[in-house]
Amino acid sequence: MNKKTALITGASSGIGFEIAKCLAKKGFDLVITARNKKKLENAAEMLSHEAEASVEVVVADLHDPLAPEAIYNYCQKKERKINLLINNAGYAIPTPFDQTSMEEEEKFIRVLALAVIALTKLFIRDMLKAREGKIMMISSVAAYAPPSTIQTLYGPVKTFVNRFSEGININYNDIGITSTAVCPGYTVTNFHKASGVQEEMDRVPSFMKKTAYSVAKEAVNATLKGKKVCVPSKTFKLIVFLLKIVPHSLFPFFSKRLAPGRYNKI
Ligand SMILES: NC(=O)c1ccc[n+]([C@@H]2O[C@H](COP(=O)([O-])OP(=O)(O)OC[C@H]3O[C@@H](n4cnc5c(N)ncnc54)[C@H](OP(=O)(O)O)[C@@H]3O)[C@@H](O)[C@H]2O)c1
Repeated sequence: MNKKTALITGASSGIGFEIAKCLAKKGFDLVITARNKKKLENAAEMLSHEAEASVEVVVADLHDPLAPEAIYNYCQKKERKINLLINNAGYAIPTPFDQTSMEEEEKFIRVLALAVIALTKLFIRDMLKAREGKIMMISSVAAYAPPSTIQTLYGPVKTFVNRFSEGININYNDIGITSTAVCPGYTVTNFHKASGVQEEMDRVPSFMKKTAYSVAKEAVNATLKGKKVCVPSKTFKLIVFLLKIVPHSLFPFFSKRLAPGRYNKI
């Protein structure tokens, strides 16, 4: 029997790496991508020891508008049929909105939104021909929260990711394609350091901090079952429920202890 293959962006660390590990254990072959070649190759080596998975690496910077096509062309050339596409790569901008250049904002939107659209567009065409395929989009609990006073565009872009995933389901569920929007809360990875908010993350109560392993496990199970939305952990399921019913004007007052720094103008 042919093994299934998953393509994972941002698989060299954090949630993406744990998703790759989880899928390797479930028998998937992997194509993994990120910018840093050395980190990616180290990840591939660890993953191929994890299970008998074939792991291929594609070094690609998703800031580059041509990167999604280069990744797709690599898979075509190697005759790698992608059964599961995982749009995971991401970061947040550390500087305040007024001090961030338009170029930085465009690069950010490119990785978190345009590359997600481009990769989905490229791979869904083959999935449609096969009349099956699964897509996972890593969004965030921030998609449900009021936009914060730091990382101004992060929450709004993740809200877009949720709506885009919903759109894919509406259009293609009946042809056998499902998209799962995964919305993690605080997860211990390199994300906070890379995004300039490690200090805020250090002040988050420990019960609110989840491991990349636990997030990945729930995300993979939900995606393989074809669920539309996955909010990993009971803690963040409750928080998302509250975000849906508590007036957003009240939320910043509750969040001082639970989400330090996010609403620091209040
Ligand atoms: N950690 C959290 O609390 C949290 C919560 C909710 C949602 N998320 C989301 O989870 C996803 C994964 O983040 P993480 O927490 O696992 O962070 P992470 O450990 O920093 O991993 C980010 C991954 O994305 C890659 N990446 C970053 N910029 C890229 C670019 N321009 N082109 C290609 N690859 C790029 C990184 O590799 P290179 O740097 O080598 O490219 C790395 O593999 C993101 O979409 C993030 O928004 C995280």
